[in-house]
Amino acid sequence: MRILITGNMGYVGPMALRHLRKAMPSAYIAGYDSGFFAHCLTTAGEMPEILLDAQRFGDVRKIGAGDLEGFDAVVHLAAVSNDPMGNRFEAVTGAINHRASVAIAEAAAAAGVRSFVFASSCSVYGFAADGKARGEGDALNPLTAYARSKIATEDSLRQIRLNGMTATSLRFATACGMSDRLRLDLVLNDFVACALTSGEITVLSDGTPWRPLIDVRDMARAIEWAITRPAERGGQFLAVNVGSNAWNCQVKDLANAVAASVPGTSVSINTAAPPDKRSYKVDFSLFKQLAPQHQPQETLETSVAGLRDGLRAIDFGDHNFRQSQLIRLNVLERQIERGRLSGDLIWQ
Ligand SMILES: NC(=O)c1ccc[n+]([C@@H]2O[C@H](COP(=O)([O-])OP(=O)(O)OC[C@H]3O[C@@H](n4cnc5c(N)ncnc54)[C@H](O)[C@@H]3O)[C@@H](O)[C@H]2O)c1
Repeated sequence: MRILITGNMGYVGPMALRHLRKAMPSAYIAGYDSGFFAHCLTTAGEMPEILLDAQRFGDVRKIGAGDLEGFDAVVHLAAVSNDPMGNRFEAVTGAINHRASVAIAEAAAAAGVRSFVFASSCSVYGFAADGKARGEGDALNPLTAYARSKIATEDSLRQIRLNGMTATSLRFATACGMSDRLRLDLVLNDFVACALTSGEITVLSDGTPWRPLIDVRDMARAIEWAITRPAERGGQFLAVNVGSNAWNCQVKDLANAVAASVPGTSVSINTAAPPDKRSYKVDFSLFKQLAPQHQPQETLETSVAGLRDGLRAIDFGDHNFRQSQLIRLNVLERQIERGRLSGDLIWQ
């Protein structure tokens, strides 16, 4: 098995690599990344790329057919990867997240790749005031450029000639958990960082909004499944919610789980806040039915413990972490300020 992972030098990529290396020890695994966050390591150990057979540096907007020759699977993670970045770089988000993704899928199909795995997001559902868990058949309600780019890619993947390749769009819940390149612009990760640095978690809402979460290690399990699934299991193209119903959590539960794991942490909840409409639950039953052997294994407690121990291992104590390079948007802004990246996110 020969696997190409794009965007392997971000938050999810290192954990996907570690899992695939273990699950498929004899696989040839290569990475392809622009290296925007290559320097943002959060590990006390070796850098994850030593587990690769090859690392290429390049922009996915320029990947050609030749780059995909000989691979059996493409795991496409490279993206402008959250709402704040998508809002700041709206046109670039369309170019990287949608147009480049479709071009890579088309080139992969033409090159004889057998499976294409696309990292989509549950944010395609938007928020849902009615409290009903969203399933794959429900209407989509993208509220941001980021969510729109994921839907546009799914729509295109449904239409292009797949030439026998399976294309799996994994609509991941919000990620959490420790990684070799941790990001702190994610709700649970942010809470753990707050607990460790200030001993205080401030929940701006009344704590009742629902958020579906998934640990990065469980994202990796789902990626392995998508690489290997036969077309009969879900169809040639499949869009599936990835997470578990047990991980539909309320924000106050996340804060309390972190406080329980980091003694001395206080949680303040704004009980006077007006009801937060940014609440949604997701139905993960289809994923459970299709991938019974690759279901999430982590719990809120193991995820929080992994973050706590991982951050302690690197002596993390930055009270100002929201201004640091552990927030993706800060890194891009600083590279642009220094003239290293253009406003279109191209290395100068
Ligand atoms: N983190 C989450 O909560 C979450 C949830 C659902 C889906 N996803 C999706 O999973 C994927 C990985 O997310 P992540 O958290 O690791 O993101 P990340 O921002 O940490 O990493 C993305 C990687 O892609 C690379 N990249 C970006 N643009 C590129 C380009 N033009 N050419 C080459 N490389 C490029 C970056 O250098 C980076 O290494 C993304 O597609 C994201 O949208 C993430």
